[in-house]
Amino acid sequence: MILHLIFTFAILCIATAGDPNILTDFVTLNNTIDANYFTFIGMRQLVGGEYPTTFKALKVSMNEFPTLNGQSVSYAILEFPVGSINPVHIHPRASELMFLVSGSLQVGFVDTSNKLYKQSLQVGDIFVFPKGLLHFQYNNDTKEPALAISAFGSANAGTQSIPTSVFNTSIFGGILDASFHATRTTIRKIEHGLEG
Ligand SMILES: *[C@@H]1O[C@H](CO)[C@@H](O)[C@H](O)[C@H]1NC(C)=O
Ligand SMILES: *[C@@H]1O[C@H](CO)[C@@H](O)[C@H](O)[C@H]1NC(C)=O
Ligand SMILES: *[C@@H]1O[C@H](CO)[C@@H](O)[C@H](O)[C@H]1NC(C)=O
Repeated sequence: MILHLIFTFAILCIATAGDPNILTDFVTLNNTIDANYFTFIGMRQLVGGEYPTTFKALKVSMNEFPTLNGQSVSYAILEFPVGSINPVHIHPRASELMFLVSGSLQVGFVDTSNKLYKQSLQVGDIFVFPKGLLHFQYNNDTKEPALAISAFGSANAGTQSIPTSVFNTSIFGGILDASFHATRTTIRKIEHGLEG
């Protein structure tokens, strides 16, 4: 019985290691597709484009590029003007493999024992943020913007921004006060800041 349970658990672990497998080469309802179905041209806007004035993430997941459904991969192009941050967040369904194309970045993640792993990245460096762990990126340079490309091991990695999920949803205020051992006034100040 116990062996059986262990065996079942092992199979479940294998089955949930990434996006579900599909039983076809790719997913489509259109039987006259051609190579265009496998091409995403939405990033052409980046070529010769200006840097944004605030942090910007351009995603290419199955929401933007439905062909990725079933392929277990996606991208995000991250643009960091001087001094900008990508606030603490989590991707529940995938690890993130980030390649720094230009500029410099301060990055870090926290594991489940609350140990912080932080790094200063320079152009050409690749950093991996393990699946489901809290992380952030920050361009601390005073002159150079930074550009990074992140690959994800899921067609729909998902993002939970911690400031928004905690302070800009309808979680009962008393829960937050008690969770953070803070007064209602302090929590309200944070909430107000995010309401914009
Ligand atoms: C099916 O694919 C063809 C070739 O890419 C395209 O011209 C056509 O608009 C598509 N049809 C639908 C319903 O998406
Ligand atoms: C940002 O750079 C300044 C000046 O080099 C330094 O004092 C500060 O600690 C840096 N902050 C982070 C978060 O790396
Ligand atoms: C907080 O929620 C409001 C209302 O849903 C929204 O307009 C605002 O953009 C959110 N702020 C952040 C920082 O997500």
